[in-house]
Amino acid sequence: MQNRSSFGSKFGAIAATAGSAIGLGNIWRFPYITGENGGAAFIIIYLICTILIGIPLLLTEFSIGRYTKRNVFGAFRVLKPHSHWYFIGILGIATAFVILSFYCVVAGWTMSFLAESVVNNFAGKSSLEIQDSFGKFVDSGWQPIIWTIIFIAMTAYIIISGVEKGIERYNKILMPVLFLILLILVGNSVFLPGFKDGINFLFKPDFSKIDGSVILEALGQAFFSMSLGMGTMITYGSYIRNNDNMLSTAGSVALTDILIALLAGVAIFPAVFSFGISPTSGPELVFITLPNIFLQMPGGYFLSLLFFLLLLIAAVTSAVSIMEVLAAYCTEELKISRRKSGILIAVIIMAMSSLCCISQMPDSAIRIAGMNLFDLFDTLSANYMMIIGAFLTTVFAGWFMSKAKLRNEFTSGGLYGVKLFPVFIFIVKFVAPVMIAVIFLSKIGLLRF
Ligand code: TRP
Repeated sequence: MQNRSSFGSKFGAIAATAGSAIGLGNIWRFPYITGENGGAAFIIIYLICTILIGIPLLLTEFSIGRYTKRNVFGAFRVLKPHSHWYFIGILGIATAFVILSFYCVVAGWTMSFLAESVVNNFAGKSSLEIQDSFGKFVDSGWQPIIWTIIFIAMTAYIIISGVEKGIERYNKILMPVLFLILLILVGNSVFLPGFKDGINFLFKPDFSKIDGSVILEALGQAFFSMSLGMGTMITYGSYIRNNDNMLSTAGSVALTDILIALLAGVAIFPAVFSFGISPTSGPELVFITLPNIFLQMPGGYFLSLLFFLLLLIAAVTSAVSIMEVLAAYCTEELKISRRKSGILIAVIIMAMSSLCCISQMPDSAIRIAGMNLFDLFDTLSANYMMIIGAFLTTVFAGWFMSKAKLRNEFTSGGLYGVKLFPVFIFIVKFVAPVMIAVIFLSKIGLLRF
């Protein structure tokens, strides 16, 4: 087996993992899914899912990765050689393709917004005009395709040059800056006329809005946001050094991830209510809201520039982590060079995301189950593929993986969190798989209460 790289330090591992977790999922997906699912009650369930299932699953994926030091397919092969568990790896690889196909499109939108900010194109526009021009942009089909292709090329370039040095280093500096700007936006929110409505929407739960499908959305968002259920964290776990404390890495990543999502919510929703935008606008929510926020802020021009630039960087570090799942598979299992793998993957993703863009055009005939490809891929990955992947991973780790191995990884050889291990095992064996199964089955109608 070739020389495997690893993260240079524990901080490097946190930065890279947080870089994977923090992305469009927090700033674009979280607000729009929250908006569509009624607000506060959804957020509470999302938090429960993250803490109760997300963190243990993150630790499980880390353990599998660090123990096997393999890609997602190879990892299950190493752990259970003559079995069909490698299916989880295949599912993970398929999921990575599906996620990248729409994720890169949104990242492309971000690039276009960055360009618009540079030339100050939003200046003087009303909220309706901004919605309208975004609509026209997406409807055109070719404009988003161009930006998406540029984004994919950029991501592939980073994959080809190797993740460790570049991404690790940038993440450490840039994530804190993103955090800072988000804080400025939150500060600004307080002065908006819709502040109270926004805060009520986010923090005053109305539990009558909860049903099976809302709970599944919350679980899907929790997994999506922490990059779980498809092998990203198995792959990144394989780069974590043996004596690093995984427990604190997982804890800090989860907390930062939650914090950024909530801050994005507080930055966005007061504006949504102030500018008469509907919380249920769907995937375009953040993109039609943000320009309005910047327009009415002092120094909005520069803040807008900086914000979209950082959002783009956050998107790149996440997209890289998804693509790395595929690259690690191609280099280790198919023995294709890193360079060729990167190009091959990029070409496939470019084709798939172009189809997503085309299917978003108004008269497009590409519709499956009443959805365009973009919405289909978003829902399919978060609400089905990652859920199934996560379920199988916990069942595998809880019931079929040697407890001694798991314990050794969880505690980093008996160094940390020894007392927490029984709790962890209990969750991985019973709580997580049962909860995931119940949520999933009740959503698809096989289980009724
Ligand atoms: N978590 C990232 C975000 O919030 C996206 C992401 C990266 C991801 N790797 C993943 C999502 C793996 C699902 C699975 O933007």
